[in-house]
Amino acid sequence: MSYDFGVAILAAGQGTRLKLNLPKVLSPCVGEVLINFPLNAADQFLALEKMSGLIGVVVGHQRELVSDHLEKYRSKIKSSLKIAVQEVQNGTGGALREYFEQIPHAKDTVYTMVLCGDTPIIGSKDLQELFASLSADPKLNAVAASFIAKNPKGYGRIVRGGSGFRIVEEKDATDDIRKICEVNSGLYIAKTEFVLANLYQIDDKNKSNELYLTDLFKENHHVRPVCFPSEEVFVGVNTLKQLQVVSKTLYQMKCDDLLESGVRLFDSSSTYVDWTVEIGRGSYLYPNVIIEGNSSIGENCCIMANCHLIDTKISNDVTVKSFCSMEGASIQNSAVVGPFARLRPLANIGEGSKVGNFVEIKKSNLGKGVKVSHLSYVGDAEIGENTNIGCGFVSVNYDGVNKHKTSIGKNSFIGSGCNLIAPIKVGDSSFVAAGSTVNKDIPEGSFAIARGRQTNKDGLAKKFLPKKD
Ligand code: UD1
Ligand code: CA
Repeated sequence: MSYDFGVAILAAGQGTRLKLNLPKVLSPCVGEVLINFPLNAADQFLALEKMSGLIGVVVGHQRELVSDHLEKYRSKIKSSLKIAVQEVQNGTGGALREYFEQIPHAKDTVYTMVLCGDTPIIGSKDLQELFASLSADPKLNAVAASFIAKNPKGYGRIVRGGSGFRIVEEKDATDDIRKICEVNSGLYIAKTEFVLANLYQIDDKNKSNELYLTDLFKENHHVRPVCFPSEEVFVGVNTLKQLQVVSKTLYQMKCDDLLESGVRLFDSSSTYVDWTVEIGRGSYLYPNVIIEGNSSIGENCCIMANCHLIDTKISNDVTVKSFCSMEGASIQNSAVVGPFARLRPLANIGEGSKVGNFVEIKKSNLGKGVKVSHLSYVGDAEIGENTNIGCGFVSVNYDGVNKHKTSIGKNSFIGSGCNLIAPIKVGDSSFVAAGSTVNKDIPEGSFAIARGRQTNKDGLAKKFLPKKD
């Protein structure tokens, strides 16, 4: 097998400044982890350019965790995904050597691209732009993406000269070179034969005693920096502050995609939709809506202000009113939920059902057209279609040790203020009187009443009321 293009994603670094108990490239970011972004960008780039490609990720620090993730993610990308290990993190040049040594066919490719695992905003279009400038000039051996930094501190500076340029790292730079604001982004595309001819000439005679990949670029080589207009694209994640900055940018990009695809937004700047989430056209999100993880929303839904949805599946024409919290729930067509509803894992709200304010539902299945409109707890329950649950209902599902099931048939009516002590079965078309505490099964079509009988004592109220003079 031979490939046109090899992509090396450098991801061996530790990332101690993030202070997370994770390898840096597994830091969570808008529903993904950091490394997914360069993987997808490279994969899409190869597809857009119609080139056969391999992607090799160089792992090192906490490599078991990173490799596990890559194994799971493999099926999500089309290119062939390979892993190389860099035992000692002796610099970006050392990392690329491991890529060539360990990844089969990497040396036989025509082009090699290098991407860092921690720069999630770079997209396939940016990669195409950079590649276009390399392919435009057959004499060119390599291009590096550069940009003008507002604060160039920490970046390698681009020193242009001769037929090429060189890159000088902050630590090794003279005061004059430090004043240069054009900096190296860490993204390169080169002819593979050029890389192989020069990669093994690199040494570690610099202030960091590292093998600098940047030493591939020399003033007397045919190499060129391609200066991109925006700094934002190249933000790398080294600190939690930078993780927040890139997350915000990625949320805004997601909002732009949603608007493009026909989803209405009240205000992008207060809408947080993970990249993993799909939303159908005609749906409308109000401010302060957060939709995370493995969630999806169908067409023509309305999610009102201050709702937080995690791993929740919503079908079409659903309205979720303000201040709802949902996790692991599903809602079928045309249902209305909220305001102030809490749906917990495995809550399934049937088609056209209504769940009102201060209702908590857990591991329960509500059939079509069920109504639970106010102040209720429904847990471990099955409720048949068109049944109405009155205000202040409690499925008493927990005996202190075990959870038990409540089953209520269809077309039934449970009056307000009822407790059903599980395990319990209520048949179809039955009626439970308000204020009942029920602990015996109710057969189909029955009326059940379970409360103390009322007596009225004539004139006795004044004994209890405050005296009036
Ligand atoms: C590098 C560039 C610098 C550029 C900057 C952009 C070099 C010598 N310098 O510096 O010119 O401005 O990126 O962000 O390349 N990595 C490995 N193995 C190693 C060392 C690093 O895999 O031994 C990986 C890291 O995980 C990271 C990437 O390479 O994904 C870049 O490494 P980092 O240490 O962040 O490079 P900088 O010092 O910032
Ligand atoms: Ca470094």
